[in-house]
Amino acid sequence: MNLNNVIFIMGVSGCGKSTIAQLLSKKLDIPFFDGDDFHPQSNIDKMSSGVPLNDDDRHGWLVTLNELAKRQLEDSNCIIVCSALKKSYREILNRGIQNQVKWIHLAGSFDQILGRLNKRENHFMSSNLLQSQFDTLEAPENAFVVNIGLNPEDIVEKIANKIKMKSEFGLFGLGVMGKSLSRNLAQKGFKISVFNREEKGTEEDVAINFKKAYKELETTQAYSDIEAFVNSLQTPRRIMLMVNAGKITDLVIKDLIPFLSDGDILIDGGNSNYLKTKDRYDYLKSKQINFIGVGVSGGEQGALIGPSIMPGGNKETYNLIKPYLESIAAKDANNLPCCTYIGEEGSGHFVKMVHNGIEYVEMQLLAEVYTILKAMGNNPDEIANILESWKAEADSYLLGITIDILRKKDGDDWLVNKIVDKAGNKGTGNWTTIATAQLGAPSTLIASALFARYTSFYKEERLWASKNFNINPSSLHLDLQDVLNAYQFARIINHYQGIKLISEAGRTYNWELNLSEIARIWTNGCIIKSDFMVELIPILKTDDNILKHATIINKLKALKPSINKVVSQCILNELTASCLSESVNFLNAYTISNSSANIIQAQRDYFGAHTYQRIDDDTGKFHHTNWN
Ligand code: 6PG
Repeated sequence: MNLNNVIFIMGVSGCGKSTIAQLLSKKLDIPFFDGDDFHPQSNIDKMSSGVPLNDDDRHGWLVTLNELAKRQLEDSNCIIVCSALKKSYREILNRGIQNQVKWIHLAGSFDQILGRLNKRENHFMSSNLLQSQFDTLEAPENAFVVNIGLNPEDIVEKIANKIKMKSEFGLFGLGVMGKSLSRNLAQKGFKISVFNREEKGTEEDVAINFKKAYKELETTQAYSDIEAFVNSLQTPRRIMLMVNAGKITDLVIKDLIPFLSDGDILIDGGNSNYLKTKDRYDYLKSKQINFIGVGVSGGEQGALIGPSIMPGGNKETYNLIKPYLESIAAKDANNLPCCTYIGEEGSGHFVKMVHNGIEYVEMQLLAEVYTILKAMGNNPDEIANILESWKAEADSYLLGITIDILRKKDGDDWLVNKIVDKAGNKGTGNWTTIATAQLGAPSTLIASALFARYTSFYKEERLWASKNFNINPSSLHLDLQDVLNAYQFARIINHYQGIKLISEAGRTYNWELNLSEIARIWTNGCIIKSDFMVELIPILKTDDNILKHATIINKLKALKPSINKVVSQCILNELTASCLSESVNFLNAYTISNSSANIIQAQRDYFGAHTYQRIDDDTGKFHHTNWN
């Protein structure tokens, strides 16, 4: 499967364009159009009477051919024959489709062509106009040049090879995600090239061994040489970088640049910082290279069978990679791809970052539920059974994997009991917390989940403190339905806060985000897919703020007594449940009509003359008091 292309076969009259195009059309099995058939009668009359066409005569005709090309590209490849002698003519033909146009220049000497023209009958251009054609010809820079001295079959073979040999998509970096995405692309029928660096002792023959290991990679081209990899790709090149986010991404971009051409597209599929994505976009733009930052969620398995994909950057550039990303993406309940254009700049990576923030909280909430159910006297299998029974009301990918995890045995014991309780992270939760602080949106649960991981990391201090503070979590007595309700309550607040953060970023950065679409592409393929995400699609069509929606309000009201109970019991029994308690604290703060912020304002005014507004002055004026 290819992204559609139009092949323009150009050259002076008499170079054999139509013959070659007909043969090529047969060989590649794609339609062919002779530009001469699209001349208006006035042009034909002029040429027949021996008068050369001027640029004005040609303008309308070239526009017609450009429109023809655009129409054809909507559903197929095609070949169009047109002399296209001047650069300005080719610019008209290229308009709006530059990246899908391949130029073939059939080149020959004046004498060669004159000889051919003299043999022709009924051609509306006489041979004495040939010189004017040669005078007009401005040799194209980006065309594949074929000498007409070869026989037509060889010419066609040469062109077909040139077009077909090259891969349409390149994957740079064969770590777990890179490998899975490559296989996914190949399984969808795309001809791809893959690259992995060669590192003596650690990374040897990675690309070639990978190709050998999977049947679907039979036509894949594997490289460990950057230049050869880049040259194996059709232009504009589409290269997806699947390397460790951070400095490596910049180093890889630097290594690639010398071999790239104007209009090539680099796609960063790593968990990159959205601000860095914007910098990289600007930097590469200055080098005429397009850059798309793509969030990819779903882990190794998702990448192989269908991840959720969040692309951000220039829309026109995105359209050139859309067919690839959409076909490898997971499909939603309506069989639509879980991939949608997010918006400009680093918006794709921003949305992926918040996805991970929401993921941190969903994971932490399950960990807190585990703490509670354990304190209620359940072993991991029993906890798994309880969670299993929650699927009817609260199903999600993370709930499912947690059940599997809890059931996994290691010898006589459960494996979870043997895992060191220090939670790692790769940085996206940290960035989300920074972003939420910078954008002034209180995603307090994401911060709590992140800090819970950080606190867990103080293992030695915790061991010391557990002996010295004499805090003894006691056994809990709670109704299981209350625990489920508390969990569901906190998940709603989590989704509200994450989506609100995305919406604030959209406003701040002028990204035109479609929140409902974002929820839709999160309903499959990604780590935070859940039944609740499906419920959010219609809600987000009408409300950016889900806490304004009647269904959500009613749900939270119904669940609130349970979370009040669960959180109080946790505190009374000295159990930590930071995200559960933060969720109820947040809703209490969010729903209070008169908060204690009046005291903060007074304090600020007291020591710093920062002024405050008065409730009895509706002009909004700022006041200052001499407090002493
Ligand atoms: C995903 C995951 C993926 C990865 C995280 C883990 O959506 O597929 O979020 O991106 O597992 O980077 O992040 P931490 O290591 O920070 O937990």
